[in-house]
Amino acid sequence: MNTLVCIEPGQFAYETRPMPVAEEGQALLRIRRIGICGTDLHAYEGTQPFFAYPRVLGHELAGELASDVPGFELGEAVTFIPYFNCGVCIACRSGLPNCCTQMNVCGVHSDGGMGEYLSVPAYSLVHGQGLSFDELALVEPLAIGAHGVRRAGVKPGEYVLVVGAGPIGLGIMEFARIAGAHVIALDINEQRLAFCKNRLQVAHTINAQAPDVLDQLRRITNGDMPTVVIDATGSLKAINNGFNYLAHGGRYVLVGLQKGELSFSHPEFHKREATLMSSRNATREDFEHVIASMKAGLVQPTTYITHRVPFGEVQQEFASWLNPATGVIKAMVELT
Ligand SMILES: NC(=O)c1ccc[n+]([C@@H]2O[C@H](COP(=O)([O-])OP(=O)(O)OC[C@H]3O[C@@H](n4cnc5c(N)ncnc54)[C@H](O)[C@@H]3O)[C@@H](O)[C@H]2O)c1
Ligand SMILES: [Zn+2]
Ligand SMILES: [Zn+2]
Repeated sequence: MNTLVCIEPGQFAYETRPMPVAEEGQALLRIRRIGICGTDLHAYEGTQPFFAYPRVLGHELAGELASDVPGFELGEAVTFIPYFNCGVCIACRSGLPNCCTQMNVCGVHSDGGMGEYLSVPAYSLVHGQGLSFDELALVEPLAIGAHGVRRAGVKPGEYVLVVGAGPIGLGIMEFARIAGAHVIALDINEQRLAFCKNRLQVAHTINAQAPDVLDQLRRITNGDMPTVVIDATGSLKAINNGFNYLAHGGRYVLVGLQKGELSFSHPEFHKREATLMSSRNATREDFEHVIASMKAGLVQPTTYITHRVPFGEVQQEFASWLNPATGVIKAMVELT
């Protein structure tokens, strides 16, 4: 089968590889869509920490089931949860497979879905429930946002500030809105803020480079400040700033990730009696929430797809998706 391999940073090659076989407990997927995510872009750039090459990228997948799996129909449209977990560690035993101590993310720690077929653990499969392949390939990135919103425990009427309006931040905004929040988007990229306003009906957008961000937040929240701040930038500067935007009694959730150490004023944090949380991956509950929201028409996932290419053109097009000037939000790869 045809497989696209990231040989080393900056270099892809199509290779013919043997068809995977679905062993006991595995399911064979015939891949139909591959969503391209920041992780794939960083792996290609060579900026993804702890990344080993060569590697087959791709974890935002939709396909047809090509082997017998109890409870599923052969040929059924499915997606899957690409975080393979050990099942026995403290996190797994506590119902938190999303932060398993032995986490194996498909397409990151092991070879992913940039090929015609992929064998995955049967336990990771998710029924397609009538969604299209495009929609199914978008469930995983949106589930990251749904998980962050669930971590924050967003309640109706709250002001939720989402910092970073990339694909992950946009998903957070959608699920914060679905939870009944007033959403405020903060980014340095005007094009992305315009996308929030025009395509996602986010009422409040603020450019993080404005001199009066604090005043704007105060005005929007009637002096209270946001009770939830969620970072989706992965920028150390943005994350450190985020502490200042939090209401007293508020929750700060880090969905974005960076390599450095955080620093913030302890007295400022203390006087707020603030709560700081990280949010890693997503669980089946989040995947099901995303699918139900898509089916109910509460999210229009295909809004995110700005670029679309056949599998054979990924090698030549991939580098262009690193350039923000292309306006890329989500590139979608198609296999027929
Ligand atoms: N929690 C998880 O399991 C998980 C999963 C996937 C991705 N992530 C992380 O989520 C983050 C976002 O991913 P993405 O693919 O949307 O990234 P992205 O790079 O497409 O988006 C980040 C956005 O942040 C904005 N930004 C950068 N600096 C800023 C600043 N100082 N103030 C305001 N905005 C700023 C950028 O303009 C951009 O729009 C990354 O850190 C990624 O590693 C986390
Ligand atoms: Zn992803
Ligand atoms: Zn585990």
